[in-house]
Amino acid sequence: MKLWSGRFSKSTAKLVDEFNASIYFDKKLYKQDITGSIAHAKMLEKSNIITKEENLKIINALKEILKEIEQGKVKFKIEYEDIHMNIEKLLIDKIGEIGKKIHTARSRNDQVAVDIRLYLKEEINNICNLLKKLLKTLIDISEKNIDTIMPGYTHLQRAQPITLAYHIMAYFQMFKRDYLRLIDCLDRMDYLPLGAGALAGTSYNTDRKFIANELNFKGICENSLDAVSDRDFIIEFLSASSIIMMHLSRFCEELIIWNSSEFNFIEMDDSYSTGSSIMPQKKNPDVAELIRGKTGRIYGNLFNILTIMKSLPLAYNKDMQEDKPLLFDTVENLKPCLKIFNEMISTMKIKKNNMKNATKSGFMNATDVADYLVKKGIPFRNAHEIVGKMVLYCIQNNKNIDNLSLYEFKNFSSHFENDILEKVKIENCIESKISLGSTSSKNVINMIKNAKNFLKTI
Ligand code: ARG
Repeated sequence: MKLWSGRFSKSTAKLVDEFNASIYFDKKLYKQDITGSIAHAKMLEKSNIITKEENLKIINALKEILKEIEQGKVKFKIEYEDIHMNIEKLLIDKIGEIGKKIHTARSRNDQVAVDIRLYLKEEINNICNLLKKLLKTLIDISEKNIDTIMPGYTHLQRAQPITLAYHIMAYFQMFKRDYLRLIDCLDRMDYLPLGAGALAGTSYNTDRKFIANELNFKGICENSLDAVSDRDFIIEFLSASSIIMMHLSRFCEELIIWNSSEFNFIEMDDSYSTGSSIMPQKKNPDVAELIRGKTGRIYGNLFNILTIMKSLPLAYNKDMQEDKPLLFDTVENLKPCLKIFNEMISTMKIKKNNMKNATKSGFMNATDVADYLVKKGIPFRNAHEIVGKMVLYCIQNNKNIDNLSLYEFKNFSSHFENDILEKVKIENCIESKISLGSTSSKNVINMIKNAKNFLKTI
């Protein structure tokens, strides 16, 4: 017998039961569902809708059900469709008529909404903790590499020399924003939908603020129609997750490139690499590739929910049941990605000499030479032209800017003086970047200091 069978003269087709059910995946929410029901029962008592004894019986039975589920003793049934009705049925089986009172002044529509919010609030905290660990690792790596010189790229072409610490601290900024985005999203979802009923509110004199307090929500959803129709919080979470994955994926892409024999800037630890079934010599960065690959899956989940919600009339529609598989999939993939990425970069070997050697060619100091001329009074565009000609000369004569003689410099401009020979050294190019936020060690040390202070605040 279905919990809603009264109006029907025939039972549903077996195929419909199987098709309609969400218990396959929403059983994951059993704890949240029971927590929500306990708070609801307490409120029903407080509002004189059920008696003290009834409340006690309901709460004790719900606690027993929780234990039984955790001990693997409960077999959920497809006929009861979802976690909400399965638990309600278990409750009724346990305590009979009194159990039938739990669904007073609520609907599955507000029930499912509160369950998902409870689940997501906890998972966002878990994800934030993983991000925090990653931020800490980025600081650790940076602190050890303030003087690790490497090429900075644009278009994947050598552009200007920077340090590895500077490069890594750029990712710190990205993941810091990701962290703050999640906190922001958490803050906006921290309102209680329970008590909204099916869509219109209820005729009972309920105390929603009491439930909000019991369940640790900072407020209640102000409009009940919105409370049961809204899945913005899932969309926001998925957007934030997609951005995290995008950052991880860009980082992974760089690590894959750096790990190649052609670059040879880093070497992944054996424990975070894999071999080939045919080529005995291979050591592949599969972990980084798989994180890059999973990015597509998370983006897909975001598009999935955006498309589900597009054009849904208010309030609840069954389409919305499809929100959960994609939400769970996102959480279950994002967490291991963050965890393994953190371990992968903590264990990788950084080949400082190879990084530095790569700055020796590619004329990465050309901009610094142009800046030198500007400081001698030459307009930047003219200086650019002069240095362009110098680069061409170097290419034709197989030379680098830093091993030209003063005599050769002077052939391009009389403004060059002896100090140019020092200025073009790669280390000096880095240290000369005095603008705030630049790659010079002074700035990077400051970035690390700010980063550590930020970590103390979260
Ligand atoms: N299993 C449903 C879901 O996950 C619960 C809400 C059902 N509400 C309804 N009116 N059919 O969305």
